[in-house]
Amino acid sequence: MNPDKSLDIERILEILEEQVYQHTGRYFLESEKVLIKGTWEGKDYEEIARDSGYNMHYLRTGVARQLWLLLSEVIGNGIQVKKIYLKNILVKLTKRYYADLEVAKFDNNELVGKTRIYGELPKLKYFYGREEEIKKLKNEVNVLKQRCLAITGVGGIGKTFLTRKLLEEILLETPDIYEYVIWYKVNSASSLDELLSEVIKILNLEINKEDFQTKICLLSNYLDSHKCLIVLDGFERLLQTDNFENKLNYEQLFIKLAEEQHRSCIIVTSQVPLKEMVYVTTTFNIESLRLEGLEESAAMQMLHDKGLGGEECKQLISFYRGDPSELEAVISKIHNFFGGSVKKFFEYQTTLTGERLQAMLNQQFAQSRLLSNLQRQIMIYLAKTMSDNSDRVPFSNLINGLKKELGLELSISEVITSIEILEQRSLVEAYRKSFSKEVSYSLQPVIKKYILVDPFGLVRKMPVQTKIKEVPL
Ligand SMILES: Nc1ncnc2c1ncn2[C@@H]1O[C@H](COP(=O)(O)OP(=O)(O)OP(=O)(O)O)[C@@H](O)[C@H]1O
Ligand SMILES: [Mg+2]
Repeated sequence: MNPDKSLDIERILEILEEQVYQHTGRYFLESEKVLIKGTWEGKDYEEIARDSGYNMHYLRTGVARQLWLLLSEVIGNGIQVKKIYLKNILVKLTKRYYADLEVAKFDNNELVGKTRIYGELPKLKYFYGREEEIKKLKNEVNVLKQRCLAITGVGGIGKTFLTRKLLEEILLETPDIYEYVIWYKVNSASSLDELLSEVIKILNLEINKEDFQTKICLLSNYLDSHKCLIVLDGFERLLQTDNFENKLNYEQLFIKLAEEQHRSCIIVTSQVPLKEMVYVTTTFNIESLRLEGLEESAAMQMLHDKGLGGEECKQLISFYRGDPSELEAVISKIHNFFGGSVKKFFEYQTTLTGERLQAMLNQQFAQSRLLSNLQRQIMIYLAKTMSDNSDRVPFSNLINGLKKELGLELSISEVITSIEILEQRSLVEAYRKSFSKEVSYSLQPVIKKYILVDPFGLVRKMPVQTKIKEVPL
């Protein structure tokens, strides 16, 4: 059912009442229903009282106060329900209710239409924005028939959520086009070879030789004879066991999946762009979407639903670059420590970092293979320069500064390659106003703070350079 068609207040009251009943064992009082309906219709207390015949003072103090407290408990999700937010919360609640009915259809090993689902799809309790990205990805999958797609971006930016939402939409719109959908969460302890073995096992394929080549061929043939949609979620986790042989294997896998004719589609999510993970890149032709923060309107909606308001919300979104997991982390801190006031939070001029981004930064800086000396120096230089003067740093200043700081003969091409990689991983931000203007760089505040504070001493721990470490573009 289309949830928009079911946004009828009588139906919403039923859904809400059912939840209240499960929580408290009682149904709504008539006066409570009157208040909820009136609020839904945008009326103030005076209008509700006039239209219903109840006394306004009784409605406001005798009914409303208790009712908002009750609803906060039942549907507030940790946030206080107030009259001004109620309509919004009810719309979300109803949409979620209908979405859950649909989603319940595709749990593990379930059939949606003729499609069998394998793997544990992450649950989506809510989802904001990303309309453009979903439209683009649907077009890549359904119209352009891309065989392999990558969704990249920093930890916590929403790759898994987006892919899950995309899958839901594809399955709801065209439930019969795939035979199998496999959601495979990459495990950091596994290798590519093990990953292939597991996918082969899920598909119940018979294999007579256990070597990598045989596995790739078997899978590729199967993907041609059966239309499958496979998600490999968190592919960067394989990088922990990175070595030369692995890189050749990744390359073989991706070239085979992307270049060879087959009818299926593989979607890979990764913090590290795939082309950094392979050696030869000339034939590497995988469509990639680099995910950035939520657009302002979606992030505003998220803040609003979670009980934050005021002019400063826009500033908060821009400060955290619309990053949903960072925003979630800071929203709960603002509620816990600043009484829900974004203004007060800004008065303290602090930069809070969410766990997801911090985990990613730890991983990037802890693994010597992920960031070279020069890349670290570039980030440290940007952080220091921006802490003296928070402006963006023009490319020529960066080069001159690095030369001065490091006292080295710098290879400009090496700096360019390094900073391009940092940009693709969304670790630095680039500003290109026009072709005639020089590019300048900055760090988002959370990353700048991480580098300056260096909480685990990982940033300045320069790796010992070896030939194999350089990651070519
Ligand atoms: N579109 C969205 N709407 C609402 N919340 C979102 C959205 N995208 C992400 N989030 C929130 O951010 C959290 C992180 O998202 P997600 O797990 O998709 O990130 P990720 O990019 O896959 O991170 P990682 O690289 O660490 O796996 C989610 O658990 C969710 O709470
Ligand atoms: Mg993820």
